[in-house]
Amino acid sequence: MKALVLAGGSGTRLRPFSYSMPKQLIPIANKPVLVHVLQGVRDLGVTEVGVIVGDRGPEIEAVLGDGSRFGLRITYIPQDAPRGLAHTVSIARDFLGNDDFVMYLGDNVLPDGVVGIAEEFTTHRPAAQVVVYKVPDPRSFGVAELGPDGEVLRLVEKPQEPRSDLALIGVYFFTPAIHEAVEAIEPSARGELEITEAIQWLLSSGADVRASRYDGYWKDTGKVEDVLKCNSHFLDGLSRRVDGHVDAGSVLVGQVVVEAGARILRSRVEGPAIIGTGTVVEESHVGPYTSIGRDCLVIDSRLESSIALDEASVTGVHGLRDSLIGRNAFVGTTGRGTDHHCLVVGDHTRVEVAA
Ligand code: TTP
Repeated sequence: MKALVLAGGSGTRLRPFSYSMPKQLIPIANKPVLVHVLQGVRDLGVTEVGVIVGDRGPEIEAVLGDGSRFGLRITYIPQDAPRGLAHTVSIARDFLGNDDFVMYLGDNVLPDGVVGIAEEFTTHRPAAQVVVYKVPDPRSFGVAELGPDGEVLRLVEKPQEPRSDLALIGVYFFTPAIHEAVEAIEPSARGELEITEAIQWLLSSGADVRASRYDGYWKDTGKVEDVLKCNSHFLDGLSRRVDGHVDAGSVLVGQVVVEAGARILRSRVEGPAIIGTGTVVEESHVGPYTSIGRDCLVIDSRLESSIALDEASVTGVHGLRDSLIGRNAFVGTTGRGTDHHCLVVGDHTRVEVAA
């Protein structure tokens, strides 16, 4: 079996971050989402991986390289524009050949793994095997209607009136039968070749399509709230490791990782939390549920349930929570005695201040 990992797309829901970086490189517990994805692929015993990339391909390639670091062989497949999930299958035709494959969305995280579902697929080899997850509001997903014995009756993309609460999530298994389907369908109203439609085409033509329930932890990291939630989930699994410097005036509580080259000075770090290499935390209170990237400065501040990306600075700010701070961004005070806020806020940014 091969894998097709989708790391193109436009990432509009993750602006402003997606203006300056591919959303699949947003860090979860200080590791890019895509690295978590590739570990999930590797756990299936797959080693040949095609990675679909858009105009930010070079940044993704700089991080993943040829895949050997993860025990994989990566082939990059450029997509000229986000023309839909089924479009990625058609442009990967040469890479996929006549092999079965798993298609994995590069912004979806399933840390509990899909090994059991992959085994089901290889045992029965249906034309397609989808992974479904019970969600409270399925209207923004592909939705599966199942029969009494769990057989797939119908798949509908983003239905206004969903007939089930089972959403298709970011992992799909296919035999080469999918290729005829992606060639047969037309772009949807939003101009994309929808994979849901291609699978529905298989169903309508009488092919065997199966669905498996995934009951583990799952997040689509396409929105800031979900990035923060996913980060908290991963931090919960941290084990304490202190490779950096912690001075005598500092206290680490619980599962805290201080990477080599980080310095904690006169501060309290409450786990779960991770402090990246080269970062300085001084006279501050960090955590719980906080990831600080590489080469950041956190000075005289208090932050929790947040992520700071590489080279960010937070100084003199108390009470930051549920925040995602971009690379090289500065969050600080205007100085003593001033009573105004001073903001340099980029496009599609959100700033919420305490009332
Ligand atoms: P989505 O998150 O559904 O699409 P998007 O990246 O365009 O995001 P947004 O809705 O916020 O604008 O895509 C799921 C994954 O598939 C994601 O990793 C991007 C990738 N993708 C491609 O590689 N090519 C495509 O044509 C599309 C639509 C998505």
